[in-house]
Amino acid sequence: MDKGKSYYITTPIYYPSAKLHVGHTYCTVMADAMARFKRLQGFNVHFLTGTDEHGQKLQTVAEEKGMKPIDYIDGIVESIKELWEVMEISYDDFIRTTEERHVKRVQGIFNKLYEKGDIYKGEYEGLYCRPCEAYWTESQLVDGKCPDCGREVKMEKEEAYFFRLSKYEGRLIDLFEKNPEFLQPEARRNEMLAFVKQGLQDLCISRSTFDWGIPVPIDEKHVIYVWLDALSNYITALGYPDTEEGMKAFWPADVHLVGKEIVRFHTVIWPAMLMSMELPLPKKVLGHGWLLLDGDKMSKSKNNVVDPAMLIQRYGVDALKYFLLREYTFGQDGQFSNEAMIRRINSDLANDLGNLLSRTVSMLEKYRDGIVPATRSVDEYDESLRQIMKAARDRVANHMDSFSFSLALDEIWKLIGRANKYIDEKMPWKLAKDENSKDSLDACLHNLADTLRIVSILIYPFMHTTAIEMRKQLGLDANVKWEDAAFLDQMEGIRVQKGQALFPRLDVEKELEMLEQINVTNDSAEENDEVTNELEEKPMIEFDDFEKIDLKVGLIEEAEKHPKADRLLLFKVRLGSEIRQIISGVADSFTPEEMKGKKVVVVTNLKPRKIRGLESQGMILYADADDNKVRLVTSDGEPGRSVN
Ligand code: MSP
Repeated sequence: MDKGKSYYITTPIYYPSAKLHVGHTYCTVMADAMARFKRLQGFNVHFLTGTDEHGQKLQTVAEEKGMKPIDYIDGIVESIKELWEVMEISYDDFIRTTEERHVKRVQGIFNKLYEKGDIYKGEYEGLYCRPCEAYWTESQLVDGKCPDCGREVKMEKEEAYFFRLSKYEGRLIDLFEKNPEFLQPEARRNEMLAFVKQGLQDLCISRSTFDWGIPVPIDEKHVIYVWLDALSNYITALGYPDTEEGMKAFWPADVHLVGKEIVRFHTVIWPAMLMSMELPLPKKVLGHGWLLLDGDKMSKSKNNVVDPAMLIQRYGVDALKYFLLREYTFGQDGQFSNEAMIRRINSDLANDLGNLLSRTVSMLEKYRDGIVPATRSVDEYDESLRQIMKAARDRVANHMDSFSFSLALDEIWKLIGRANKYIDEKMPWKLAKDENSKDSLDACLHNLADTLRIVSILIYPFMHTTAIEMRKQLGLDANVKWEDAAFLDQMEGIRVQKGQALFPRLDVEKELEMLEQINVTNDSAEENDEVTNELEEKPMIEFDDFEKIDLKVGLIEEAEKHPKADRLLLFKVRLGSEIRQIISGVADSFTPEEMKGKKVVVVTNLKPRKIRGLESQGMILYADADDNKVRLVTSDGEPGRSVN
């Protein structure tokens, strides 16, 4: 294999605790676009994804369902694979951490670290956060609680194996300081550098309080810490430490794409493990932002997930991929919005791209019997379009190489926009009436067809099905070559053929109404509860931001079941003289009778939102609990009074 031309890209391996939501698909869609782009450029790409199947929480969730962990997990993994199939994700390998190949190799990795003298047995006593499966020191706690999830910690003690993370502190500082390319965006690098400079403690890498994990090879009473197990997937999938071929071909990885909350694992623990194994480090770790819904991270437990399968069914996979890659800026959080998605489908896909293709093909059929003519004349309009046609490919490539998917698409849409304007400038319908303008019309029709040919190549990494459909209508084969986008005047003599509209125009109001009906709370009843991310952390906010939230005491005067959803309760809440209708997904935790007369805390300035056809004018606060039911947050204040 030609190592110089290899490209290895990975996504995180997802927890198979519940069906994936659109937030999860974001990273995989980016990785897929990158993998397809690199393949198109001629790289020998290896694209890895998979599932992270061990750990106490998955064991607990399965047991609560009365199932063996693997039986429970198998079902979810199946749904994840189906989703990737529907989304046409072009992964080369899918690793499950329960697979034999992974289990054996993780044990091999443990042995390597042990033989290196980097693992020792000790006793750990510390403040333990169960949900995060992490020990913390007193000074790391925030307000006495787990700094990652904000929950209670308890003093616990256990015999455990430790990895000498502290030994690698200096080399990690060097890594961040001397190799700014390693972690991006810049802000994350500074954060990690500051974190390492605070001083690293050795890492507890075994657990003995549960057994759903890979046994420690030298002591089967223990299982290996889930992150050591999970991070190893990037090399066990290549055969390490058993076989060399995969590692020779693809290691070090070109990029690990990860969400911002797991950057720390990938840029501190993972490099230290690799240093201990004397393996090269990945060239780059990229931390992306989250897709938020109503300002919050999507999470099954918060009932605010968007189902990608539903969006794909309605709008098609290419529309969803386009929206995700175009709308959000890498590294930053972004608000998911149905309206923004529908507007983009209409304006960018149906109007700009779809119309350009259908107008061009129609004009070719009308004026030139469907055969693309030669270009014999060039005027100033032709010239200005041709400049952009020539430059587009390299501009797109530059943006892709810095993972600026949105800018890359923007560049393609500049070309599309220019071509649409070119039609208005050249007015081919006028040229067609004038015998003396034959050459000018030929040039116009050729340039338009040639622009679309270039566009079909440039969009291929993002929307390959649309690219191929365009090419069919343009009389081109499916053999897309990246280098062809650099040449002009390639369409002479080709017969075009009108086909279906690429993207039908949507009625925005009707679609929004419909999406509200398919409410996010709708689909969760029969599904599995989510195991929340082990390190889910909310960013710090300014006091001013906190001040924006209007919290008031509310008295529940009426409570009943939502007529259209079993899991929802509908309340009439008195706030002073005002009565609000508020809907909560708490029918599993309370009966309507129990709620009547309760004084609760209400977020009163949350934008009203329709939930299964009825408006909810605020939000009642509840506290999480371990039994999957929620508890009330009550107040003995006067209804309508502020809560500060
Ligand atoms: N299993 C670990 C990763 C181990 S990698 C060696 C894990 N799994 S996860 O399922 O909780 O998250 C997987 C990825 O999904 C993370 O990168 C996370 O940031 C991403 N996302 C989960 N919700 C998301 C959004 N709402 N938006 C964008 N990405 C999100 O962590």
